[in-house]
Amino acid sequence: MEKDSENLADLFNMSDLPDEAFQPYWENIVVDEEKKKKLLNYCTMIPNLKGPQLVRNSIYGLVLLNGPSGSGKTSLLKGCANKAAEQTFQKKGQKTKYLEVDISRLFSEFLGKTMKVIAEAFRTVRLAACYHPVILQLDEIESLGMERSSLGVGDPTDVLRSVNVFLNELDRLRPCKGTLILATTNLETVIDCALLDRVDLKLHLDNPTKEAAYHILTKSAEELEQELNVRIPKSLLKEIVQELYPKKSDRTFSGRDISRLLVLSMTMNGHYRICAADVKKAIQILKEALN
Ligand SMILES: Nc1ncnc2c1ncn2[C@@H]1O[C@H](COP(=O)(O)OP(=O)(O)OP(=O)(O)O)[C@@H](O)[C@H]1O
Ligand SMILES: [Mg+2]
Repeated sequence: MEKDSENLADLFNMSDLPDEAFQPYWENIVVDEEKKKKLLNYCTMIPNLKGPQLVRNSIYGLVLLNGPSGSGKTSLLKGCANKAAEQTFQKKGQKTKYLEVDISRLFSEFLGKTMKVIAEAFRTVRLAACYHPVILQLDEIESLGMERSSLGVGDPTDVLRSVNVFLNELDRLRPCKGTLILATTNLETVIDCALLDRVDLKLHLDNPTKEAAYHILTKSAEELEQELNVRIPKSLLKEIVQELYPKKSDRTFSGRDISRLLVLSMTMNGHYRICAADVKKAIQILKEALN
C-alpha cells in the first residue's frame, strides 16, 4: 500500500505556475505564430469562462496537439501553461496548479488499477480547483483514450474500462471553473472518436520548415555562445540549413533533431568549437538514423 502511494506521488507531478524554469519553453519553441496565439488565447480565456451555463454546456476545456514525434508538442504546451498562469497571476495574484500525469506508466505499472489511478488524478484536479486554477497535462493521450472498437479479445478489459472512466471523468470536470486539460498525441488515428469529439481545440504541429529550422539553430547557437563561449558564425548556420534541405529533397527533420544538431557537431571533434566539417559529420549521422 505504501509502495502504491509512493508510485502515485511520482506519477502525478504537481507544481506551481508561473515558474521561471518553464519560461524558455514558450520563448524557444519555433512554431507558426498564429497557432501559438490561438492556443494562448484559448488557455487564458476558457478557464475563466467555464462557470456560466452557456459555456459549461458547450466547452470541455480540452486541447489536443497532434503531430510527429519531436515536433515540439509537449514543450509548447508547457510554455503555454506557464504563459497562461502568468496572466492569471498578474490579474488575480493566484498561483496555478500544474499537474502532469505520466500516462505511459499507467498500463505498465498500474495494470488492474488504472481506473483507480485515473479517477484519483481527476479527483486531485477537482479538489485543487476549489482553490486554484488547475492545468492537467496528459502526454501521449492515445494510450488512455484508445478507440474502443479496435480493442480485441486479447486486450485487457482494464484498457476498455479505462477509456470509459476517462470519458466520464472528462464529463465530470467539464463544469469546474478554472480547469484546463492539455493533451498531446502522435497517433491520433487510434484515439476513440468519443474522446476526439470532446476536444475543443485541436492543433497540428509539423516538423519545422526550413525557415523555422534556421530559427531553432540560431537560438541554440546563441545558447552555446552564452553558456560555453562557442561561437558559430551565421554563415555556417545558413550552410547547415542548405545541407539539411537540399533543393530536390522533401525530407524534413524533427525539431528535436535540429535542436541537438550543434551540440552533436561539437562532440565530433571532442573540443568546445564547431567547424563545417563537424557539422557535416553530425548531419550524416542524423540522416543515417532516419534512413
Ligand atoms: N519547433 C520547435 N522549436 C524549437 N525546439 C523544438 C521544436 N520542436 C522540438 N523542439 C525541441 O525538441 C525537443 C523535443 O520536443 P518535445 O518533447 O516538445 O516534442 P514532442 O512533439 O512532444 O515529441 P514526442 O511526440 O516524442 O513526445 C525539445 O527539446 C524541444 O525544445
Ligand atoms: Mg511529447
